[in-house]
Amino acid sequence: FNTTPIGRYHLQVCTTTSCWLRGSDDVTAACKAATGITSFGETSKDGLFTLTEVECLGACSNAPILQVDDDYYEDLDGPRTLELIEALRRGERPTPGPTIARMACAPAGGRKVLREDAVQKPQGQE
Ligand code: FES
Repeated sequence: FNTTPIGRYHLQVCTTTSCWLRGSDDVTAACKAATGITSFGETSKDGLFTLTEVECLGACSNAPILQVDDDYYEDLDGPRTLELIEALRRGERPTPGPTIARMACAPAGGRKVLREDAVQKPQGQE
């Protein structure tokens, strides 16, 4: 619950294990650099952004995750986080979901298992 007013955009950085291992520190640093916020719980001076640290958002396969209001932005890094925040500042709302070339939570780069071309048939059954 927010017990005090928050900014127009609520930036919620997951810093739990999967996100932390995959770069949530970079996402946090980018959020601070782009908003001027110095620590979690603050709202930017322009009133646009509030930064909150949150526990696992249940999207670990696409870590690290930044939740903006109700939308998940996934597979982030520092530069893509900066781009996202600048877009929000311009009043744009980028499409939520993976920020890299992957479909939903499928493996980046395409399917890796259960491929016909990877099946090894027993000798004599080729
Ligand atoms: S650890 Fe971040 S979504 Fe699960």
